[in-house]
Amino acid sequence: MKRIIIAIDGPAASGKSTSAKLLARKLGYVYLDTGAMYRACALAAQQQQININDIQALSRLMENIRIHIQFSDHGNTIWLNDDDVSEAIREPDISRLASAISAHRVVRTKMVKLQRELGREGGVILDGRDIGTVVFPQAELKFFMIAPLKIRAQRRYLELKEKGLNPVFEDILQDLVNRDKADASRALAPLIPAEDAIEIDTGELTIAEQVEKLYRIYLEKVGS
Ligand code: DC
Repeated sequence: MKRIIIAIDGPAASGKSTSAKLLARKLGYVYLDTGAMYRACALAAQQQQININDIQALSRLMENIRIHIQFSDHGNTIWLNDDDVSEAIREPDISRLASAISAHRVVRTKMVKLQRELGREGGVILDGRDIGTVVFPQAELKFFMIAPLKIRAQRRYLELKEKGLNPVFEDILQDLVNRDKADASRALAPLIPAEDAIEIDTGELTIAEQVEKLYRIYLEKVGS
């Protein structure tokens, strides 16, 4: 059967990565977490103490950065230069910096190129903000995931708690509001649904139900 490109976009904590990872496993596809790539850029800027609004410094950083994604059934392992940064990029301050750094053209140009190289053969599910609109506008199947803000904040809260951290619910909520606003209002590749994207509200769905829903739509579109 034809191995297509599946784009999953949507705001933070809307269920994109969990669904994408599980659907990829079900279909024998590769899952690519594009947000992790912007997070790795943010971590590199933080480590090198670069002011991300200093475009020359940011350009130098992007010329030298080496991001490598290792694929497995359990998701992506993200390498920044020679370090596994899969955990470090999940810190809340990196979430904020990733959103800010991703608004810069020099960063997006490099990341989009890499994403296109990794996805061009098909048999891939990419999740992000601009996959269906910019990275792969020709993707055969596009989803746009949404969920009410409070539910998304609750999910992030539980995720951080499970990691042994001590999150404050109100801080998470405010961070999500700020990040959604920044991601949706930026000039370059803003977070908006592609015209041909299918909207999925995951607010009332369990993870298994989300995956089942995407899978059924996939079967309708592509055949079994
Ligand atoms: O999906 P995520 O929350 O890990 O993404 C972190 C940030 O990266 C997000 O706030 C905006 C940016 N991003 C982007 O601009 N384009 C993408 N395709 C994916 C993420």
